[in-house]
Amino acid sequence: AFENDAIIVVLGASGDLAKKKTYPALFNLFSLGLLPKETHIIGYARTKMDVATFHEKISAYLKGTDTEEGKANKEGFLKICDYISGQYDEDASFQNLNQAMERIEAKTKVGSPSRLFYMALPPNVFTVVAKGLKNNCYSQKGQNRIVIEKPFGKDLESSREMMGKLKDLWKEDETFRIDHYLGKEMVKNLLIMRFANPLLEAGLTNELVDNVQITFKEPFGTEGRGGYFDEFGIIRDIQQNHLSQVLSILAMERPKSFSSEDIRDEKVKVLKFVPPIKEEDVLIGQYTAANGKPGYKDDDTVPKDSNCPTFAALTLWVNSPRWKGVPFILKAGKALDEAKVEIRIQYKDVTKGIFKDIPRNELVIRIQPNEAVYLKMNAKKPGLDTNTLPADLDLTYKERFSEVRIPEAYEALILDALNGDHSNFVRDDELDVSWAIFTPILHAIDAGKVKNETYEYGSRGPASLNDFIAKYGYKRSNDSYEWPTTNVQ
Ligand code: BG6
Repeated sequence: AFENDAIIVVLGASGDLAKKKTYPALFNLFSLGLLPKETHIIGYARTKMDVATFHEKISAYLKGTDTEEGKANKEGFLKICDYISGQYDEDASFQNLNQAMERIEAKTKVGSPSRLFYMALPPNVFTVVAKGLKNNCYSQKGQNRIVIEKPFGKDLESSREMMGKLKDLWKEDETFRIDHYLGKEMVKNLLIMRFANPLLEAGLTNELVDNVQITFKEPFGTEGRGGYFDEFGIIRDIQQNHLSQVLSILAMERPKSFSSEDIRDEKVKVLKFVPPIKEEDVLIGQYTAANGKPGYKDDDTVPKDSNCPTFAALTLWVNSPRWKGVPFILKAGKALDEAKVEIRIQYKDVTKGIFKDIPRNELVIRIQPNEAVYLKMNAKKPGLDTNTLPADLDLTYKERFSEVRIPEAYEALILDALNGDHSNFVRDDELDVSWAIFTPILHAIDAGKVKNETYEYGSRGPASLNDFIAKYGYKRSNDSYEWPTTNVQ
C-alpha cells in the first residue's frame, strides 16, 4: 500500500490552499516520478463544475509547464486528476465519492489502493468532514490516512475539543497534522546543523548565547482575507505554530534517534519548560495606510474597533538547564518592509580588556528567501596594523549547492504522509503544550487588555520595536557590517 498505489482525495479542491499549494506540490512530485506508480487524485468540493473546468483552474498554478517536457508532464498529471462535487455534511455525497474510489480500485491491479484524505478546508467543517469520511469512505482493505491543516482551534480549550473529536474517528498514526514550516529545507536542516556539528552544538547554551530572535516578515498585508484573519491574528497565524515549531527544534535536547517519536518527544519536553507568555514580554501592532497601501482596518470585512494584531514580538523563556535566562524573541508581522524568515542567535560579548566595542558573534540561519547559514565573526583586518573587521563564514545555498533544486515544503510533507513518516508533523501533545504557552496572552489581547501600537504599511514595525529588543539584550553593532548584498537574489 501507498508505495505502489494510492488514491489521494483533496477536500476543498477549489479553495486557495489546494490551488496554490496542494496541487502544485502534487504536480512537482508527479513530474519527478515520486508519486506511487498508480496514483489517482480526486478533487472534492461543493462547487459544481466539470473536470475540464477544474483542470483549467488548477493548471493556472502549475509551474514549469512551458517546455515540451513540462507540457507532457502536465498532460500526464491532469489525466490522473478527477473532480467530484459534493456536500461536506451529507452521507450521500461521501458515498458517491466512495463509489468513485471503488471504481478506480476495481481497475487497478492491486484492487485496494490506500487512501489519503487531504483536508484543505476551513476549520468549521473539519470535524463534520472527518466524520463523513470515516463513516463512508474508509477503506476496509487498504490503509487510510488523513492530512489536516491549521487552524487547530483558537486556544487550548478549543484545540482540545477539536482534536478530541477527531481522535474519536481517526487514530493518531492515521492523522497527519501539517505545519508547513516543518517541511522547509532550512527547518529540516536545523537537526543536522545542530547534531552533526559538535562545534555549533557546544555553543548553543546559556553560557555563550545572549539572546535568540526568530523572525517572520511579510511585505504584504491581509488584503482579501481580513475578515478571516481578524478572528485569529498574527500570533495564532504564525507564532503559535510556525515559529514555536522552529523554537522547539532549535532549543530541544538531542533525540535518541531520528525516529518521529524520539524527535517529537524531545520537542514536547523542551516546550514544557516554557511558561505562559507574560504581558510585559509582549509588543503588538496593527498596520495603518501608507505609501498608497491600505491600512488593516480599511478592509470592509474588518471591524473598525478591531484590536487584532498584525504584528507581534513575544519573548519566551525556555527554563531548561541549557537555556535558562536566554530570551527567545519570536517576531512576526504582515505589511512590513521585506520578506524574510530567519533565526538569529546572538552570542555574548567578548570579555572586556583587550577589545573595545567589538561586535558580537551571530549565527544566522536564513529560512527564506535565499537559504543560508552564516556566522558573523571578527577577523584581523588584512594589513600591517592590528585592527579588527567584522566578517563571516558564509554557507549560502545558491552558491554552495548551485545545481540543487530545493523542494517546496508541501512536496516534502505530502511525500512523508504517503510514506507514513510522522517526523515532520505535529503530534497531539505538541499542540497542547504549545497552546498552553500562548493561550493566556491571546485571551488578554482578545479582551482588549493589551493594546496595539500602530505602524505604517511597509515599515519595520511599531516604533518601540528597537527598544523592546534591546531590553532583552540584543545589541545592534555600530560597525557598517551588512550581509553582503551580492548574496541576495
Ligand atoms: C500561513 C499563514 O500559515 O503561512 C499565512 O496562514 C502566511 O498568513 C503563510 O502568509 C506563510 O507561509 P510561507 O511558506 O510563505 O512562509
